Amino acid sequence: MLMRKRWVVPTPTENDDEQMLVALRPRNLDEYIGQREVVERLRIAIEAAKQRGEPLEHLLLYGPPGLGKTTLAHIVANEMGVGIIATTAPSLERAGDVMGYLLSLKRGEVLFVDEVHRLPRHVEEFLYPVLEMFRVDFNISKRPGAKPHRFELPPFTFIGATTKAGNLSKPMRDRFGLKFRLDFYSVEELAQIVKRAADLLGVPIDEGGANEIARRSRGTPRIANRLLRRVRDYAQVKSDGKINAEIARQALTIEGIDELGLDQLDRDYLTVLICEFNGGPAGLEAIAAMVQEDARTLEEMVEPFLLQIGFIRRTHQGRVATVKAYQHLGLEPTKLPQPSLPLTGN
Ligand SMILES: Nc1ncnc2c1ncn2[C@@H]1O[C@H](COP(=O)(O)OP(=O)(O)O)[C@@H](O)[C@H]1O
Ligand SMILES: [Mg+2]
Repeated sequence: MLMRKRWVVPTPTENDDEQMLVALRPRNLDEYIGQREVVERLRIAIEAAKQRGEPLEHLLLYGPPGLGKTTLAHIVANEMGVGIIATTAPSLERAGDVMGYLLSLKRGEVLFVDEVHRLPRHVEEFLYPVLEMFRVDFNISKRPGAKPHRFELPPFTFIGATTKAGNLSKPMRDRFGLKFRLDFYSVEELAQIVKRAADLLGVPIDEGGANEIARRSRGTPRIANRLLRRVRDYAQVKSDGKINAEIARQALTIEGIDELGLDQLDRDYLTVLICEFNGGPAGLEAIAAMVQEDARTLEEMVEPFLLQIGFIRRTHQGRVATVKAYQHLGLEPTKLPQPSLPLTGN
């Protein structure tokens, strides 16, 4: 297996400067760029809850990684003027783990659980009555036969975030009064996000530079901020520190990121599919072996974007490259993908 450093994955990586990403988070709805419909509906829900003097209803945020779910959860707490306790589902192994958080919540505060689809079943079931009635029967004593103690909790807002809404159980989904799906950002919105981030970092950038970075960010703010960091370094070392289109292009080309935001691994995948398997259909394992990459990595970190931009399709026989993929690589389609092949989901 090759060790690759990838800049265009939407999930956090070890190369990220988490502190910087947190510093770049918008703090309120006015600063939050894009996702207009979600922002508008949230604004109304928040305003209404405040007028009634009630906590906001439980809120589910779902959509691909890197689009601003965690950011939005913190914004909601901020707009409601309440505190937030943030944790992730995999760290909540037992009901007792949740209990600690519940007991420290004050009225109206937010409990944010990331990756909420990964809650163990028994923790989920423990949460149902809590979320519905803010009441919990919990056994504090470990003595056998000890009676559970009833806790009345102050009403609070549960915010769950997930990239896999489909994996959420129905009873869990039903506990959320508000459900919002985040979508990929337009290039214009990403350019705004890049300009805002550059401002905060004190990096001079012009319209062309912001656009160049935005275009290669795969619709994802987390990637945009990461690419901005690479371009900033390049501009500082190779130029006068100012970012324009030319500098951005040079910096990202050196990193192997092309004008659509594809990197070397994406292109290797496509080249193998097209040149070694005649455009497919080819099995994931076979492609993985040729690319010298783990099949799961390809499935989670390469294919989603290629599917999204219509460069590949998944069929029952395997992966197929589309004409767009041939064109992007400057290759002649010797055999066009057959449109009659039955498609599987997404
Ligand atoms: N609407 C937005 N406007 C500006 N920056 C954003 C926006 N959404 C996300 N970001 C930036 O992208 C980064 C990743 O967002 P995050 O909330 O962690 O995504 P998710 O939780 O969906 O994976 C954050 O550090 C934030 O700076
Ligand atoms: Mg997150």
